[in-house]
Amino acid sequence: MRSIAQSVLALLVALLIADSNASLPRRGSSNQSQNRTMSAGKAFKVLVTHPEVPQEGIDLLKENCEIIQVQSVPTNRAELLEKIRGVDGVLWGGHEPLNAEALDAAGPQLKSISTMSAGIDYVDVPEVKRRKIPLGHTPTVLNTAVADLAVGLLIAASRRFHEGRKTIDNDKWENYHLNWLLGQDIRDATVGFYGFGGIGQAIAKRLGGFDIDKVLYTTRRRVHKEIEEEFNAKKVDFDTLLAESDFIVIASPLTKDTQGVFNATAFNKMKQTAVLINIARGKIVNQDDLYEALKSKRIFSAGLDVTDPEPLSPKDKLLTLDNAVVLPHIGSATKRTRADMSTIAAHNVLRGLAGEPMLSPAY
Ligand SMILES: *[C@@H]1O[C@H](CO)[C@@H](O)[C@H](O)[C@H]1NC(C)=O
Ligand SMILES: *[C@@H]1O[C@H](CO)[C@@H](O)[C@H](O)[C@H]1NC(C)=O
Ligand SMILES: *[C@@H]1O[C@H](CO)[C@@H](O)[C@H](O)[C@H]1NC(C)=O
Repeated sequence: MRSIAQSVLALLVALLIADSNASLPRRGSSNQSQNRTMSAGKAFKVLVTHPEVPQEGIDLLKENCEIIQVQSVPTNRAELLEKIRGVDGVLWGGHEPLNAEALDAAGPQLKSISTMSAGIDYVDVPEVKRRKIPLGHTPTVLNTAVADLAVGLLIAASRRFHEGRKTIDNDKWENYHLNWLLGQDIRDATVGFYGFGGIGQAIAKRLGGFDIDKVLYTTRRRVHKEIEEEFNAKKVDFDTLLAESDFIVIASPLTKDTQGVFNATAFNKMKQTAVLINIARGKIVNQDDLYEALKSKRIFSAGLDVTDPEPLSPKDKLLTLDNAVVLPHIGSATKRTRADMSTIAAHNVLRGLAGEPMLSPAY
């Protein structure tokens, strides 16, 4: 129901970002009633688990809370477990495991947690739920940044950017051939989405400008009819998606059900000219099988913003391939997007502390 729920959320986010202090007591006010609210608010201790969480979110939290911040990069688990003790809220920046160990270290007074990411596969969600702690995350705001990057990867992989660049490095610029470095057209293509939520739809919206023919998608539930009409999209089973798509974009969460589904069996059902894009999570793809499929030209190419593991070793065999464009998980890495993510995470935490529903609850 993107048109309703997501538009409402986007509007809320826009309003919050435009006047992010509107509903919160202000610092330095001489209004006694406000001062009381502020003093009461300061009773909350909030841990920010990473020193590089953008200031926008931290400033918001500071209005009402005492901030404790983990300073180590990469995160020193011992420092995190030490500093989390006794806090009321946590802004979980980064992808450290958020599990029973961390929750136990925090103690029973913990009432509010928000991650600063869309995917929360590093969170033991059942464990957080069992303890009845509200959990927020930050989907939606990163949709456009990730979608832009996905389109970039789609073009780079279909038009052989990486291989082309290597020919220059290796003094193999052979443009005297007529059919040199020919790629795949996006025009008139069938684009298949494995997962078709906010990010998938933002990608489809952008690809509309490239004159694609149609969209297929595989999800558990059918998306709203209006969305299907907007993108000329049709829900199909996984085998149909594999067989009929010229481009396949993985835009689903990583779950037990999605882990490793893109394996040799799947690649063998794809077109030989197919281009695979993954901006979701590395583990949805069996990377050894992908290597073989690319190496043997069973499929045309792949554009990956995510790998398994991350970081990927510079010696990984995937990087030796001409037809794999690989990026270091930078989908949401724009200044504005990260600032918005920290703002929303901070609002989630504050709302959880106030016993209000979070702006973007994870469950
Ligand atoms: C606000 O509260 C602080 C203590 O938290 C106190 O020192 C200060 O005088 C108060 N200011 C006003 C204007 O009431
Ligand atoms: C002080 O702040 C409270 C709460 O925000 C508000 O209801 C009240 O009108 C304010 N009083 C003055 C004099 O600004
Ligand atoms: C690929 O995954 C499917 C389940 O998604 C499974 O049935 C199939 O056996 C797997 N193929 C290989 C080669 O592992």
